[in-house]
Amino acid sequence: FLTMRLTGTKYACGRGGCGACTVMVSKRDPTSQEIRHFSVTTCLVPICSLYGAAVTTVEGVGSMKTRLHPVQERIAKSHGTQCGFCTPGMVMSMYTLLRNHPQPSEEQLLEALGGNLCRCTGYRPILASGKTFCLESNGCQQKGTGKCCLDLGENDSSSLGRKSDVSPFALSSPQEYHLTPTRMTENPEKRTLTFHGERVTWISPGTFKDLLELKAKHPEAPLILGNTSLGPAMRSKGCLHPILLSPARISELNVVSKTNDGLTIGAGCSLAQVKDILAERVSELPEEKTQTYRALLKHLKSLASQQIRNMASLGGHIISRHSYSDLNPILAVGNATLNLTSEEGTRRIPLSEHFLAGLASADLKPEEILESVYIPHSQKWEFVSAFRQAQCQQNALPDVNAGMRVLFKEGTDIIEDLSITYGGVGAATVSAHKSCQQLLGRQWDELMLDEACRRLLDEVSLPGWAPGGRVEFKRTLVVSFFFKFYLQVLQELKKLIKPFPNSRRYPEISDRFLSALEDFPGTVPQGVQRYQSVDSHQPLQDPVGRPVMHLSGLKHATGEAEFCDDIPMVDKELCMALVTSTRAYAKIISIDLSEALEIPGVVDVITAKDIPGTNGTEDDKLLAVDEVLCVGQIIFAVVAETDVQAKRAIEKIKITYEELEPIIFTIKDAIKHNSFLCPEKKLEQGNIEEAFEKVDQIVEEVHVGGQEHFYMETQRVLVIPKTEDKELDIYVSTQDPAHVQVSVLHFKHPHQQDHLSCKASGWRFWREDRKTGCLRGYCSCGTGHPIRLVLDREDDMLITGGRHPLFGKYKVGFMNNGRIKALDIECFINGGCTLDDSELVTEFLILKLENAYKIRNLRFRGRACLTNLPSNTAFRGFGFPQGTLVTESCITAVAAKCGLPPEKIREKNMYRTVDKTIYKQAFNPESLIRCWNECLDASSFHNRRKQVEEFNKKNYWKKRGIAVIPMKFSVGFAATSYHQAAALVHIYTDGSVLVTHGGNELGQGIHTKMLQVASRELKIPMSHLHICETSTAMVPNTIATAASVGADINGKAVQNACQILLKRLEPIIKKNPEGTWEEWIEAAFEQRISLSATGYFRGYKAFMDWEKGEGDPFPYYVYGAACSEVEIDCLTGAHKKIRTDIVMDACCSLNPAIDIGQIEGAFIQGMGLYTTEELKYSPEGVLYSRGPDEYKIPTISDVPEEFNVSLLPSSQTPLTIYSSKGLGESGMFLGSSVFFAITDAVAAARKERDIAEDFTVKSPATPEWVRMACADRFTEMVYICPLPLEPPSHPTPWAIFK
Ligand SMILES: Cc1cc2nc3c(=O)[nH]c(=O)nc-3n(C[C@H](O)[C@H](O)[C@H](O)COP(=O)(O)OP(=O)(O)OC[C@H]3O[C@@H](n4cnc5c(N)ncnc54)[C@H](O)[C@@H]3O)c2cc1C
Ligand code: FES
Ligand code: FES
Repeated sequence: FLTMRLTGTKYACGRGGCGACTVMVSKRDPTSQEIRHFSVTTCLVPICSLYGAAVTTVEGVGSMKTRLHPVQERIAKSHGTQCGFCTPGMVMSMYTLLRNHPQPSEEQLLEALGGNLCRCTGYRPILASGKTFCLESNGCQQKGTGKCCLDLGENDSSSLGRKSDVSPFALSSPQEYHLTPTRMTENPEKRTLTFHGERVTWISPGTFKDLLELKAKHPEAPLILGNTSLGPAMRSKGCLHPILLSPARISELNVVSKTNDGLTIGAGCSLAQVKDILAERVSELPEEKTQTYRALLKHLKSLASQQIRNMASLGGHIISRHSYSDLNPILAVGNATLNLTSEEGTRRIPLSEHFLAGLASADLKPEEILESVYIPHSQKWEFVSAFRQAQCQQNALPDVNAGMRVLFKEGTDIIEDLSITYGGVGAATVSAHKSCQQLLGRQWDELMLDEACRRLLDEVSLPGWAPGGRVEFKRTLVVSFFFKFYLQVLQELKKLIKPFPNSRRYPEISDRFLSALEDFPGTVPQGVQRYQSVDSHQPLQDPVGRPVMHLSGLKHATGEAEFCDDIPMVDKELCMALVTSTRAYAKIISIDLSEALEIPGVVDVITAKDIPGTNGTEDDKLLAVDEVLCVGQIIFAVVAETDVQAKRAIEKIKITYEELEPIIFTIKDAIKHNSFLCPEKKLEQGNIEEAFEKVDQIVEEVHVGGQEHFYMETQRVLVIPKTEDKELDIYVSTQDPAHVQVSVLHFKHPHQQDHLSCKASGWRFWREDRKTGCLRGYCSCGTGHPIRLVLDREDDMLITGGRHPLFGKYKVGFMNNGRIKALDIECFINGGCTLDDSELVTEFLILKLENAYKIRNLRFRGRACLTNLPSNTAFRGFGFPQGTLVTESCITAVAAKCGLPPEKIREKNMYRTVDKTIYKQAFNPESLIRCWNECLDASSFHNRRKQVEEFNKKNYWKKRGIAVIPMKFSVGFAATSYHQAAALVHIYTDGSVLVTHGGNELGQGIHTKMLQVASRELKIPMSHLHICETSTAMVPNTIATAASVGADINGKAVQNACQILLKRLEPIIKKNPEGTWEEWIEAAFEQRISLSATGYFRGYKAFMDWEKGEGDPFPYYVYGAACSEVEIDCLTGAHKKIRTDIVMDACCSLNPAIDIGQIEGAFIQGMGLYTTEELKYSPEGVLYSRGPDEYKIPTISDVPEEFNVSLLPSSQTPLTIYSSKGLGESGMFLGSSVFFAITDAVAAARKERDIAEDFTVKSPATPEWVRMACADRFTEMVYICPLPLEPPSHPTPWAIFK
């Protein structure tokens, strides 16, 4: 699309996993001849496959220049965009849905958006915009009335995203149908089409006969259908197929035929079509015949995303034989057969364990193709079930899945036939054939269950070093799934056996055990957002305090917002790719570039020697010189005419290393080797040792994993040198332009000037500046050509560090009544191989560790560990989300020991009156207490706590948990120089106003807020005001837009500039009070009054004396509280989020829509940190989790089923603009309420099973952790049944966690 200048479609992962590149494809179905519209992820769509198809990109849907489509308008007006990088993909998923279903159900909407990731919004507003198209949706659904709160006449609160705010949707508009390409209306062509590429030839035959001929001629050539298996393999494993055969136009592969005993589905049908075919068959046939179909349907709902299901074919899925395949285990147990065809004729083979294992005797011959798949009906006395557990419910590959089938002798519970297959537990789908054979003739009872579990564990052996790790968890799932199957079948048997009077009586399954049967259904989230309406006397034109739409919302929705990589190619532009270390700690012995330099198009290789300035510092080299310190460290860069050439050259570079020692990866190893990056930071108050002497104590450890920023827009930069003036124009998406400018200074020739322009920026969630500064440096010192660098997701994740993992040890002293008398916390964070921001993060961590609690005797210590991993850096919350999890875990542990609910301990130890923090800064906790109380009220906490207890009494295999967490979050930097800002405001003679300020728009809405401020100050409507993108040429020496103070300080600077201008205009206004703004400006110009002003804000004086442990480091605190309730499945470790209520103290919000967006987005991001986002490294220090398939950020189906956010009615803070508060980061920690609700549920399970209720806390609380913590007879079996011995050649374990 780039060459066509259609930049709306975004590229963020290249693996089909994020949905940013979604477009709609319209194609004629080869069988029905009808035109099908479906969404696809273009990063996996080969261009040749689009011959004869129409592609609709976001530009074809609507535009600001012509007309907006209601989908675009509504997503913007519902505040569903922040950075906007995901928005075109979201629009296209919704648009395609509406194209097929003009009034979709909410479930269809959820399904359509399941494959689109958003890292900013928390999804709620996106879903809200989509719901306005749904049949059943009606307003904000407040209080379960099905109506919008505004219609209920409640004027103390307002709600976002009302249906009445948006234009009506009529699908009949001509815009809907303007794309029907000529080729689609013609008769389908029968001739073979051939496309020759540089290295690959694409052949698309028009007839089945031609296809078979071609396959005979090119037996090695793969058939390419969805390309969702071949494509990723070609990318990641570098497989190259010189010839590809595309059977997309062969109608024979799409034939579906129904017979009395089964269903035959063409191998070319997409998985989405298979889902529809099965659903139809299920509705037509009696239940007993559709067991296999229903099991397949269950997995087809959660397999990948809608886009992938639209692309992937049944044949491709089966033939790929992925070990994680969700369908093959069910097809295998369901006795499916494969209909194969070649020029020689046809034959049938079973989809058996041998086929799945790839045995030649049971496989396709090279010249054969899979024509169709036959799936027989199930029969009476036969039961088929499917099981699956993944890191999250939707859009995630399964950890383990299974297909199970049992056939009983008629009228009995005697097993006549049994098949069990598992996915995810070996290199291929594994059949437990031996165990099944040994169980034939057995009765379906507890004895059989016990024996089956032992046999299964023995047969489905999974060694400790098995790829993918999680070995004990997977083994536990092997038996847990069978237990679920056992119960399900028992239930069904009871129904069937009843009419047989002489049959055995079955023991009743206790109601408490029935909870094992049901999976969590996908539920469409609902919720209410409350904020205070502006004063009724506030002039209508004054936008402050109103939910004004994000300034770029519409541009995001139409794809017209220009991101860094959307800038058109410039003359003589070159591409850059980076060469990184493959060793964790090694000496570079030699580098051989010869082959790389011979690749056509390669222009240069830039090494440290080529840098005209300095190569970073001694401890933090920007380019490795003789030694590498981690895998992923940048050694040099290749510049070539195209991106492909640069990447090919990289593959040809040979580097030899000599390993050095010691290599340190984990925090515990660093402690052992005394390997630290900076001195310990410490704060202390009271007399901790003395206090411990008089009270009970708990000593525990807490592990908090790191977090990848996973900004949707990977790091990108375009540098354009202007040789005549020794200047550089740098276009970059960053949070800190001035810092980037300084980084570049290190590299460049003396006296070179650089101008930094920040393009619309995919949100960075704080920076990666050392690294990105470095990248930009390469570009500037390069070849004199403009250079563009766009990091792939894999490289971005490999090279850049993220949030620091933390290991905390605490000792807490407490009284029986829960009063904490002394607390000693020692934290270690994994800083990686260089200092970066680790010292700053350690300081913030220690300063924020006390959270909301007043404890008289305290000692907090923190250190950053030096390890051989990529350097970790700051991330939203700066250490607070990790550190405070230790504090809150300690509270939970005290509660367990005292036999009191955790909320009682929290209340007992919370700050109550005006007081001083551990670093002696005075503050008033009134708003904290108000948030806490309102949250308890709004969530009906005490009632629900009782209901949770009731539920838990009644259910053994499902448990609920509830937790409420308070928060005191300090805003700002602990350094005075960071509390300043400047702005530049120009008024033009036509009355329009241009505002420039030093803050960066990252999606957080700062530009919108700044114009709201300017509008109020100048008393003109926002339509007169325009923003100029942040540039160091306009506002120099900018401060990083971070620490939640961006709007505070820049708002004051804009206010100052506007007030200066207004003062200058005062005499003119006085003279002509009835005049218009335009008249006053004209008069001012005539009178030679300057219409341009620089505003400046000299902010808060922050200081911290670490020697004395005292200071005033923060201008103010944001208070909040969140209550979450979850339900866990003790057998699989899965959880669902039932409800979350957040109350946040925003004081007088500048823009409640933006602020609520920040809270929701941060909360969901925090939830990801604490529940799903897990970084895994190989024992050699190579990051495994390098894309959306291995690293799971929350998806739309992870949003709590009920999600309510309220802003506390106003309190005042004199330091900030109009008494508003910065809410960019604080919501992150509130995600921990989900974590503590999960641990609450786990504790309930453990209590019932008589296992210690307190346990070592580990974040994230992944399904693996939950399952293993809910120990039971199945986990016990796994521990008893030994693993195969490890051969000495295998390092163990498969993965290390930092
Ligand atoms: C982001 C993403 C998420 C995914 N999530 C899941 C998941 O959760 N669960 C799951 O089970 N799978 C998942 N998958 C895998 C997906 O199901 C398979 O990649 C897909 O079904 C393969 O079908 P395809 O048409 O794209 O195959 P292609 O990539 O086009 O082809 C794959 C192979 O099949 C061969 N082939 C195809 N058709 C025929 C035929 N008719 N005769 C002979 N050979 C043939 C080809 O030669 C080729 O070798 C995911 C994939 C992606 C990209
Ligand atoms: S799905 Fe295509 S870029 Fe992510
Ligand atoms: S708005 Fe969705 S990723 Fe930023």
